[in-house]
Amino acid sequence: MHPSTIATGLAFISAVTAHLHPEPQTHINYTVVPGVFLQDDPSTNASAFDFIASNFGLINRTYPTDSSCPDRKHATQWQRLAHYISSLNSQCRSNERYALLFLGRHGEGYHNAAESYYGTPAWNCFYSELDGNSTVTWADAHLTAPGITQAQTVNKFWSHLLKDEKTTPPESFYTSPLWRCLQTIQLTFTDLNLPKKNPFIPIVKEFFREGISAHTCDRRSTKSQIRAGFPSYRFENGFQEHDPYWMALRAETPTDQDIRSKKVLDDVFESDDSTYISVTAHSGEIASLLRVLGHREFRLATGAALPVLVKATTLKGDEPPTATQPYATVTTCATPPTIKASSCNDCSCCK
Ligand SMILES: *[C@@H]1O[C@H](CO)[C@@H](O)[C@H](O)[C@H]1NC(C)=O
Ligand SMILES: *[C@@H]1O[C@H](CO)[C@@H](O)[C@H](O)[C@H]1NC(C)=O
Ligand SMILES: *[C@@H]1O[C@H](CO)[C@@H](O)[C@H](O)[C@H]1NC(C)=O
Ligand SMILES: *[C@@H]1O[C@H](CO)[C@@H](O)[C@H](O)[C@H]1NC(C)=O
Repeated sequence: MHPSTIATGLAFISAVTAHLHPEPQTHINYTVVPGVFLQDDPSTNASAFDFIASNFGLINRTYPTDSSCPDRKHATQWQRLAHYISSLNSQCRSNERYALLFLGRHGEGYHNAAESYYGTPAWNCFYSELDGNSTVTWADAHLTAPGITQAQTVNKFWSHLLKDEKTTPPESFYTSPLWRCLQTIQLTFTDLNLPKKNPFIPIVKEFFREGISAHTCDRRSTKSQIRAGFPSYRFENGFQEHDPYWMALRAETPTDQDIRSKKVLDDVFESDDSTYISVTAHSGEIASLLRVLGHREFRLATGAALPVLVKATTLKGDEPPTATQPYATVTTCATPPTIKASSCNDCSCCK
């Protein structure tokens, strides 16, 4: 597969978008509404943060719309937030919109366990390019037993949020096409008391996948395999049978990842008028989405999630220009390096 494929894919999506929005051109700008969740407060320590113990990071506060909140004496913080968001949406300009994104990282996969087992240098420079070892497979890695437990814990948390905190559940569910996310989203939202009008029917979107490295854990299964494993899921239009993007010993650049993260967010906002949107993705991909949204860096552990209250503004004029880059070449070692220090991540320690 040639590196220009990703550029062609992006050009195709731009052409589709242009078609839906005849002249004059517009583009969407995203900003984060501050002061609602602890995760976007610079003083919150991401590595020590427990989203389950802290009500998803929802800050205890009043909102300017509390006085008109139905049953305001008994309303929970989440109910007052929902009233605030719906007021923002009914009072904003016609080119503005507010949405609450729930961004969840998959539970631990076999690739995560293998990286810990072999150490990061040996993983990056040798093992990650293989499909697995003689006992486990990490190509398009499945969840480990602890990874399944992590997702089940988030499921219990959602059950508590819906029942006790009266949190508004997601109206739409999107997932990366990689197996660990397909499993995580199912375990997370199964058997919940969701409203009939917004049932749990995930939509698989190619560009919510992890940053594409030479690691086989970033190569997805075919559409037929995904459909066989998860028959109730839907696919975005144009989702291809075979992975068009993963390439042996080639890696997408971070610049390209942010460009396609913006495309996939735009695609969601242009095709879906939901206010509560769940996305199940990856550490690197959620970091990229946060950059596009203008949220500070917030690293998630496996199985963790964060909410982001987003203001999307449709502005006149073309998107500021971006240029996709060719995939980078990846260097590996012929045999696993013995050095464990992370300074060997460029594989200069190959022996
Ligand atoms: C953040 O939390 C981690 C883990 O608990 C801790 O090691 C680190 O020192 C903390 N950082 C700051 C700046 O407090
Ligand atoms: C919010 O207040 C409740 C008690 O009303 C408390 O249990 C909870 O820890 C507080 N949450 C935060 C994020 O401060
Ligand atoms: C394969 O990798 C896993 C780590 O995910 C490890 O637990 C297992 O011992 C390895 N098997 C062999 C034969 O090295
Ligand atoms: C677009 O969003 C960014 C933050 O994501 C913000 O800094 C910038 O001012 C916004 N631009 C416009 C024109 O609104």
